[in-house]
Amino acid sequence: MATSKLRTYSRYTPWMLCILSALFIVWHWSPASSFMMWFLGVIFIALSFLGLSDFRQKHHAILRNYPVSGHIRFLFETFRPEIRQYLLESDTEKLPFSRNQRSLVYQRAKGASDKRPLGTIEDVYKSGTEWLTHTANPSGHVALSSLRTVVGGKDCTQPYSISVFNISAMSFGALSANAIMALNKGAKMGGFAHDTGEGSVSPYHRKYGGDLIWELGSGYFGCRKMDGTFDPDLFAKVANEPQIKMIEIKLSQGAKPGHGGVLPAAKITPEISETRGIPMGQDCVSPAAHSAFNSPLELMYFIRELRQLSNGKPVGMKLCIGKLREWFAMVKAMLETGITPDFIVIDGSEGGTGAAPVEFVDHVGTPMRDGLRLIHATLIGAGLRSQIKLGASGKIISAFDITRACAIGADWCNSARGFMFAVGCIQARTCHTDLCPTGVATQDEMRQKALDPEDKAHRVFHYHQNTLHALSELLSAAGFNHTSDLSADSVIRRNEAGIAVPLSNSLLHLEDGELLLKDANLHLDRHFFGLGKYWLDASSHQW
Ligand SMILES: Cc1cc2nc3c(=O)[nH]c(=O)nc-3n(C[C@H](O)[C@H](O)[C@H](O)COP(=O)(O)O)c2cc1C
Repeated sequence: MATSKLRTYSRYTPWMLCILSALFIVWHWSPASSFMMWFLGVIFIALSFLGLSDFRQKHHAILRNYPVSGHIRFLFETFRPEIRQYLLESDTEKLPFSRNQRSLVYQRAKGASDKRPLGTIEDVYKSGTEWLTHTANPSGHVALSSLRTVVGGKDCTQPYSISVFNISAMSFGALSANAIMALNKGAKMGGFAHDTGEGSVSPYHRKYGGDLIWELGSGYFGCRKMDGTFDPDLFAKVANEPQIKMIEIKLSQGAKPGHGGVLPAAKITPEISETRGIPMGQDCVSPAAHSAFNSPLELMYFIRELRQLSNGKPVGMKLCIGKLREWFAMVKAMLETGITPDFIVIDGSEGGTGAAPVEFVDHVGTPMRDGLRLIHATLIGAGLRSQIKLGASGKIISAFDITRACAIGADWCNSARGFMFAVGCIQARTCHTDLCPTGVATQDEMRQKALDPEDKAHRVFHYHQNTLHALSELLSAAGFNHTSDLSADSVIRRNEAGIAVPLSNSLLHLEDGELLLKDANLHLDRHFFGLGKYWLDASSHQW
């Protein structure tokens, strides 16, 4: 306890040393003091007041948490481009996001210029390079307000018009209360959606009234019985709040698919306990699997139950594709029951997390673009695509990232870490230690105070707004009026052999209703050899 307090306050050491030095000099000062004594006295007094102003200001979280010493970071930041350009890494090195990507978010969030001088620094001839096919006849102005899509299939009575760019699931618990408030207020200002993450709906999600997607993980936080199973009455109470626009069942998360989670008893504050509906003093376990359904068929019945309990709000699921057989089993369950989710969010293995085992982060789960295309194509093949909207998440930061995901099949995109950068995350990668230097991913009250929700809400709003603006310009350049006009022919990719080909050349493509025909497995094999076997093996009765 004493050590952790010491650790909390140790960041004020440089500021305290300045104050002590100033007091020491003032104490020993006399009119006959040397020039050096005068000089040092002025310096230390100035630094002491600088520390006080750092501590009290709300604009820079780093300075608030590290008065005086925080300026060293900004000093180094000033020299950093030069030092790095000559000595260290490249601008495009990704850890996991490159400096270019983070700078883009910071600039858009601050409303600063995001223009680049003197052309691209990328090698456009290297394999993997991608570009949008523009037109000789741009479409002109694309209104930002039109960049939305309506979610809600045939059984949904309260469809939701969602922005094409939204805040991905991140729980209160993983993020600080102040970060959640900044995100939700930004979402309210910009009219876009904020996913609660599986930690349920906290008072911080409710404070500003921004649109919420309520995520239900295997722990059913916010709607669970004492034994951790799903409680329909509690669910109905929250789901019918007007602020909740959609319900999302989390099957898996790209960064750690198939892995549950434990929130240790020590980290459970009274607020988290109340928000999640869990007791204090006990570890809170998110099981790896759901208890409300045990097969693809039961998943469809659960979707129907949630839709009824929420009085017809859109109900969907979030998953990272794993075993192909299981995905096909879900499609078969949809076809057999006639029950379809209103939406599916496809998360990729490149996605983020507060903390996950390294093997899971690096080697479990299908990357977003592969999973997205599989789901998009098979839903077309099953004749279900028009009833189900698709969201995508996984390293989506820029307007081109949105464009590419929509070209592959997404109707909208979510970003988690993009919006973390917008509220001040500097990619320190300390989310799992509770020592986040900017107050974004911590429950330490002192640290999170450094993040001013009002100030950062404007950054969230501007990041969203300026990204949509860039997206509208891209769409116009390609001659389109909406992201739904994009197709896999809209983006060209230089393949391993150095040849530039449309994305459509390498992606699974099925004709409308093709999987409803006899010998659907042969149709799949014709497009992608080997896929047919998984279709044959898939049963709606078991995973
Ligand atoms: C700090 C943090 C917490 C997260 N918490 C959740 C969560 O509660 N539920 C969930 O489905 N995904 C969670 N995610 C994953 C994101 O919602 C998203 O799927 C993934 O990070 C991909 O998006 P990104 O590349 O834009 O970060 C979390 C991600 C981060 C970075």
